[in-house]
Amino acid sequence: MSKRMWGGRFSQEPDAILEEINASIDFDRHLYAQDIAASKAHASMLAKQGIIGAEDAKKITQGLDTILAEIERGELKFSRALEDIHTHIEARLAELIGPAAGRLHTARSRNDQVATDLRLYVRDAIDRLDQAVADLQLALAEKALAHAGTVMPGFTHLQPAQPVTFGHHLLAYVEMLARDRGRLNDARKRLNECPLGAAALAGTSFPIDREATAEVLGFDRPAANSLDAVSDRDFVVEALAAASISAMHLSRFAEEIVIWTSPAFGYVRLSDRFTTGSSIMPQKRNPDAAELVRAKTGRIVGALVQIIVVMKGLPLAYAKDLQEDKEATFDALSTLALIVTATAGMVRDLEADEKRMKAAAGEGYATATDLADWLVQRLGLPFREAHRITGQIVARATAARLPLHRLPLSELQAIEPRLTEEIFSVLSVARSVKSRTSFGGTAPANVRVQARKWLKKLAKEHKDG
Ligand code: ARG
Repeated sequence: MSKRMWGGRFSQEPDAILEEINASIDFDRHLYAQDIAASKAHASMLAKQGIIGAEDAKKITQGLDTILAEIERGELKFSRALEDIHTHIEARLAELIGPAAGRLHTARSRNDQVATDLRLYVRDAIDRLDQAVADLQLALAEKALAHAGTVMPGFTHLQPAQPVTFGHHLLAYVEMLARDRGRLNDARKRLNECPLGAAALAGTSFPIDREATAEVLGFDRPAANSLDAVSDRDFVVEALAAASISAMHLSRFAEEIVIWTSPAFGYVRLSDRFTTGSSIMPQKRNPDAAELVRAKTGRIVGALVQIIVVMKGLPLAYAKDLQEDKEATFDALSTLALIVTATAGMVRDLEADEKRMKAAAGEGYATATDLADWLVQRLGLPFREAHRITGQIVARATAARLPLHRLPLSELQAIEPRLTEEIFSVLSVARSVKSRTSFGGTAPANVRVQARKWLKKLAKEHKDG
């Protein structure tokens, strides 16, 4: 008979290559805390229901606590021959408490066990991510308030479009991150059903209390269908989809930091704490952290694609394919935590070159729309007509190699005689942003209101949370 936990009907040991492909301990060891918590909940429920003796349950619980401490001290030896974290813990329990250990696996299977462990793991990760993303929002909102009146070019097509405020630009990311948190927490709600007690796939004949284990483990309810409970990994897909969208946002911000810190732009500066040098070019200051945030997004999206492909076409209920749900998930969720934290670090570190930003905001005829708007508001022209006249003025300024506000009034009047001196005040970038007071617009007054609203909301969450 094989020595394996499942070895009763086997006469030979597995081939080395089977052991190699089958073992998951190298990665599912990260589930140890969740596995032990779920086992403790299961054991005390079994005792309460009179399925195992109270003495045995006590031994099991104490043994599991000992194992938790052993793993945390790095003392438990992991071996591929023992397959996975569930068998490791059970084998160690048998060493510690003897035959009582064999009662723990009553009315459950590794199938509901691993589904429960992974849900707990993803739930913890979501909760930690929510806090990390909230901290990034805080960093952005603080910077935004400080730069509510700092003018910079706003771009479309990466061409100067209209002046905006730096604070407004940063708050755009606060909005994105709020949606990211919404998606993560939404995924958490659907995740929060407990598979434990579904057993291998069909439920069990033992009089278990699934409500009780679900409650102890902080789930809202037990999962209602045992086949679904052991084979569903939607919660992984949803969490990774939310993570991918968030990483996508971070990669956009990272790209902007790369652009802004390039001397060609020079809008912001990262301190030495967030830049690296080149081994050959002594002058270089490279924004490596931003580049890595941008690149690591690929791993997270890759993990999402991987799990969807693993799940595609998988018949009910459990199949070993499901073992391939873990590595990518662990990696993606911890990578997201890493890049969120690195981004918050960069936000707190970065310093805006306000002069440079302001000068750039005036380049490229970025206040041309303001001129057109003035023609509409003051002269009552239809916007299309105003657009045409402004286009002619821009063409003339371009030919004369002058910014709009340096064109003499006479030149302007040659194109539109009703233009007056007043137009010069409209052409300044400060005036331009100040006038954008429509709800959601870039006016410094708006930005202050929005930044304060976020800071208040985040502080309240922090207090309540
Ligand atoms: N290591 C396995 C996994 O991650 C645990 C479940 C094993 N179940 C089974 N029927 N062999 O999926």
